[in-house]
Amino acid sequence: MQTSANNQNSDQSSERKIALELIDLKKSFGEKVIHRGVSLKLFEGEMMGLFGGSGTGKSVLIRSIIGLDRPDSGKVIFEGRDLLTLTEHQLYDVRTRIGFVFQNGALFDSLTVEENLAYPLREHGKISEAEIQKRIEAMLELIDMKGSNDLLPNELSGGMQKRAGLARATILQPKVILFDEPTAGLDPVNTRRLTANINKLKERGITGIFVTHDIPAAFEICDRITILNEGKVHVVDTVEAIKHSQDPFVQSFVQGAYYS
Ligand SMILES: Nc1ncnc2c1ncn2[C@@H]1O[C@H](COP(=O)(O)OP(=O)(O)OP(=O)(O)O)[C@@H](O)[C@H]1O
Ligand SMILES: [Mg+2]
Repeated sequence: MQTSANNQNSDQSSERKIALELIDLKKSFGEKVIHRGVSLKLFEGEMMGLFGGSGTGKSVLIRSIIGLDRPDSGKVIFEGRDLLTLTEHQLYDVRTRIGFVFQNGALFDSLTVEENLAYPLREHGKISEAEIQKRIEAMLELIDMKGSNDLLPNELSGGMQKRAGLARATILQPKVILFDEPTAGLDPVNTRRLTANINKLKERGITGIFVTHDIPAAFEICDRITILNEGKVHVVDTVEAIKHSQDPFVQSFVQGAYYS
């Protein structure tokens, strides 16, 4: 398998299993070049923060992994296959093992919380009704929403909606979870609750990519951070190394200059 240059960091990469690998992804929309060759390795059990100024292509990158955007070239290796070569039908199956949490629209408005959580289990899993109920109750407890089974999304606060979205994306226990700004629009209290929920999931050993403008939340949740700039990976390194980086560009992110 190709290994590519861009600062694939300090970590003991040779000893760790790779859950997901992006290799030299390129993407343009018309004249506009978004990705000029993005490569990234996500190790099993790690959470990777993904930073970059607005419009640098973080969402397009996340969407590319699960086939919602199609890169022009490159590879997305998962479970030994290049996802970019798969048909829509094959991708549908892969999406049961790669969960995603988007900023908006995670829940079906006409379904209750319980029905929303049951949906992926009934749709994709060969799981008994008893097991479905057990998983829903365990998940509601995890996201501090015990007893909210029969509420509709419009009866939930914004924070609860996001936590229910997180629950829906993770209830099938995917191998990899992609978060695209899950805390966007939340007040500090709800941001902390969601972050705590993600940390609880982390303790169970989830692997994921966490796109955010919320640097403190990312530092709390993530093991490593990738910063995109001008269509390339500017740096990949541990949270500690990023925090103490002397690189002025990295510092500008850490100090929040891009997020005011
Ligand atoms: N379907 C599309 N057609 C044309 N241009 C697009 C499309 N999707 C995204 N873009 C453009 O690609 C660029 C990257 O978009 P993207 O949404 O990935 O940015 P981002 O890094 O997620 O930004 P933000 O932090 O604001 O969410 C933007 O300039 C956007 O306008
Ligand atoms: Mg985005």
